[in-house]
Amino acid sequence: MSNYETLLLARLKGNTSLSGWTGGLKLLETVVSTQEEAKKLAENGAPEGTAVIAEEQTGGRGRMGRKWHSPKGKGIWMSVVLRPNLPLMSTPQLTLLAGVAVCRAIRRATGVEAGIKWPNDLLVSGRKVCGILLESSLSEGQLQYCIAGIGIDANLAEDDYPDFLKGVGTSLMIERGGLPVDRTDLAGTVLAELENLYTLYLEQGFGPIKELWDSLSVTLGRQIALNTAQGRRGGRAVGLDSDGGLLLQDDKGQWFSVCSGEIEMI
Ligand code: BTN
Repeated sequence: MSNYETLLLARLKGNTSLSGWTGGLKLLETVVSTQEEAKKLAENGAPEGTAVIAEEQTGGRGRMGRKWHSPKGKGIWMSVVLRPNLPLMSTPQLTLLAGVAVCRAIRRATGVEAGIKWPNDLLVSGRKVCGILLESSLSEGQLQYCIAGIGIDANLAEDDYPDFLKGVGTSLMIERGGLPVDRTDLAGTVLAELENLYTLYLEQGFGPIKELWDSLSVTLGRQIALNTAQGRRGGRAVGLDSDGGLLLQDDKGQWFSVCSGEIEMI
């Protein structure tokens, strides 16, 4: 067992707030993608809360078919199995929930004041420090399970970024002036926040999560541009709608919602 694994297991054992999730933790060295590993476990009946964490991903994936740079020992590359009894249209709310959980965990465990860019990129000083990918499995139109994929750039140095990410991505270590992050502590805190907020969501619905999201958002109040099937549109971000879409108001005062895609903050 690696040192990281021993420490993480010890940390999780001592964390009573994780008692509701019995899925356990699978720690791996090198995988193509933790999403694939978690999916295999879910297909074999793994219970809710089962988490897969890898030291390195050779084919980590992001939203919109992008690759996710996942160098060895530098980040938290994690996927968690969720089995919510929800209609498919509610899954964007889970994406926002995961963003809130990770943002709170980063703030708590590292002191870095990350903020959420809709839907759930975590930014520090305008640069991306974490991405979240929620993938759902359906059978006959019913949600079977979701895999919440979380990628946190914990201890990458500027040199660890390929050219196309230089100036776009940042790490918690960079934002702490070179002070490395305790990945064990951070991973444990992420799992604890995720479990707590997920339990809150199942008991009380999206309302409390939406309030937390609003308070951590760096998108609300900003001027936004986005490409839609109807062309480029712009407006001021004024809130979330009840499904978790972003509510915008254009310069003619007209309101509209965006439910997916990528926004630009201008
Ligand atoms: C994004 O911002 O585009 C989402 C990035 C999600 C990356 C994480 S890393 C752990 C998990 N495994 C993957 O292959 N992707 C997610």
